[in-house]
Amino acid sequence: MQSSRRNIVGDSVALRNVLRQVDIVAPTDATVLLLGETGTGKELIARAIHDASGRSHQPFVRVNCAAIPSGLLESELFGHERGAFTGAIAQRIGRFELGDRGTLFLDEVGEIPIELQPKLLRVLQEHEFERLGGTRTTRVDVRVIAATNRDLPEMVVAGFFRDDLYYRLNVFPIRIPALRERPEDIDALVDHFVGEFSRDMNRHIDVIPSVARDALRHHSWPGNVRELENVIQQAVILSGDGRLTVPPLRVPSRPRAADTGAGTLEDVQRACIVRVLEETRWVIGGPRGAAARLGLKRTTLQSMLKRFGLPFPREAARSEASYAAG
Ligand SMILES: Nc1ncnc2c1ncn2[C@@H]1O[C@H](COP(=O)(O)OP(=O)(O)OP(=O)(O)O)[C@@H](O)[C@H]1O
Ligand SMILES: [Mg+2]
Repeated sequence: MQSSRRNIVGDSVALRNVLRQVDIVAPTDATVLLLGETGTGKELIARAIHDASGRSHQPFVRVNCAAIPSGLLESELFGHERGAFTGAIAQRIGRFELGDRGTLFLDEVGEIPIELQPKLLRVLQEHEFERLGGTRTTRVDVRVIAATNRDLPEMVVAGFFRDDLYYRLNVFPIRIPALRERPEDIDALVDHFVGEFSRDMNRHIDVIPSVARDALRHHSWPGNVRELENVIQQAVILSGDGRLTVPPLRVPSRPRAADTGAGTLEDVQRACIVRVLEETRWVIGGPRGAAARLGLKRTTLQSMLKRFGLPFPREAARSEASYAAG
């Protein structure tokens, strides 16, 4: 099954290089670590690897480690026995067991709490674990693809990520370049999304004006392909006359000069971050989130929150608690 591979649009050298690595690694059972900024296509590539592997007729199970409260993640991954904890009224099969003979996509793997990391390392190395509250050892045959937009080596140094787990995940890293590193792909992606959304919305777009093309080509796309996809969706909605009408492209703004005169640079940065977080209701990601408002990458802002000891709003608002099996 090569279907997901056909959905990958773009012919840049950088993307072709990624696809070459997909072809090399897919038929093996090697663990793959997908690295890349938000919206670059990590999940799409993970599915392409699964679909091109010998496991393609087996389940592809996704877990978004950032969307599940850390206290529930162990049971989500490994399952639990009845009575394992208050509220565990029935036995539950975890994602590793559901993915048996297939592929488990561990999205946002950098969010796995440090205390759970040894158990993950063990299942990667020994292919076995115990359900929460259970004594029987379960063996599974699961191929793991992990993804992150965090700097894992930096997290290792900071003590948030175990080095042994990092090395075990980093067997075959694939870095997916940001869209601004492969602007040659923009035209083809625009055509692809215009086609898709105009079909979905029953709109006929005959003309993409060259000014619109230029604006799209020259934007820096901090949200990468996802941002482009959203812009084209809006554009198709706005286009009543068969000509693509691109909405104004927002360039992430730099924070205004310090609003307070006193304190160290760090105090000023902290105050500025808190103010913007309050304005965005603690939403970090997305085009209207604090990271975009501050002109920072989401991951950079997250590290700053840690450094300043500010609460770390989980991106639960993105409601990505969906993890599809099959
Ligand atoms: N090369 C591509 N061709 C077509 N569509 C793409 C491509 N890359 C990404 N997309 C689309 O862009 C959107 C974002 O991709 P995806 O969810 O795979 O990114 P991601 O790296 O997992 O992002 P995040 O880190 O935010 O989870 C999806 O709708 C995906 O289908
Ligand atoms: Mg993703």
